[in-house]
Amino acid sequence: MPSVRLDKFISERTEYTRSQIKQLAAKGSVTVNGIAVKKSDTKIDPENDSVTVCGQALSENRYRYFLVNKPEGYVCSTDEKDGEIVLNLIPPELRSKGLFPAGRLDKDSTGALLITDDGELAHRMLSPKRHISKIYIVKLDRPFESKYVNEFEKGMVLANGDTCRSAKVRCSPDCETVAFVELTEGKYHQVRRMFSAVGNHVQFLQRISLGSLILPEKLRSGMYMELLHKDVENLFLPLDFDIFFTENASFFSANLINK
Ligand code: URA
Repeated sequence: MPSVRLDKFISERTEYTRSQIKQLAAKGSVTVNGIAVKKSDTKIDPENDSVTVCGQALSENRYRYFLVNKPEGYVCSTDEKDGEIVLNLIPPELRSKGLFPAGRLDKDSTGALLITDDGELAHRMLSPKRHISKIYIVKLDRPFESKYVNEFEKGMVLANGDTCRSAKVRCSPDCETVAFVELTEGKYHQVRRMFSAVGNHVQFLQRISLGSLILPEKLRSGMYMELLHKDVENLFLPLDFDIFFTENASFFSANLINK
C-alpha cells in the first residue's frame, strides 16, 4: 500500500504551506476518511484515503490535466471567435466544463501547453514569483552568434524598453541556425522579441519543456495526453538547463531540422 505524509499530500494540491497545514491539522480542520487528524506528519494512502481541508475534499481526480503539443494556427483562448482554439485538440467526450489553456503560446508557436480545469494550479504555475522555467527551440533566419549567450544572460532590454530576467541561450550542436532558450518568465512574444533585439529573427518556435515536464517524443504535433499526478508535480520541479541541453539538444534539433 503506497503511503505519503499527509502534509506533503495536501501541499501538493493546495496553496497551503507545510506549517499552515500543521496548524490547520492541530485545529481539527484536516480529516482523513471523515476523522480529524491532528498530526500533519501522519502517513496516508493517497489512492484510497479521502482527505479534506477546511471541509474541501482533495481527491486524486478532482481536476483534469492535459498536455498538448500545439500545432501552428491554434489560439490559446476559450472563445471560438478568436479562431481555432487549442481546446479543440481535446476530444469532445473529455472536454469537461471549465477547461482552459494554462499559459500562452502565440498562434504561430508550437509545443508543450497545459490544458486544465484547475485554476489554482494554473495560478501557481503562472505566478511571476515562481519563475517556472520553460525551454524553447527556435529556428533562426541567421546563424547564432556567441555574443547572444552573454546578452541573454545579463537581462536583455527589448525594443519597447521592457527588461527581461536573465535567460540562457545555446546554439544547437548540429545546426548554426537552431537555438535553445530557457526563460523563467513569460512576456508577450518574448522569445521572438529577444532574438529581434539581437538582430535575428525567429522563423519557427516550439516549447519543449514546462518546469521538469519535457515534451514526450511520442506526443506528436496536434496530439494530447492526460497527465498523471506525478507529471503535474514535474511542472514545479526545476530542470537543469545545461544537463537538459547536453542530453536532449541533438534529439530536438534533428526533429526540427527534418521537419
Ligand atoms: N515566446 C514567443 O515569442 N512566443 C511564444 O509563443 C512563447 C514565447
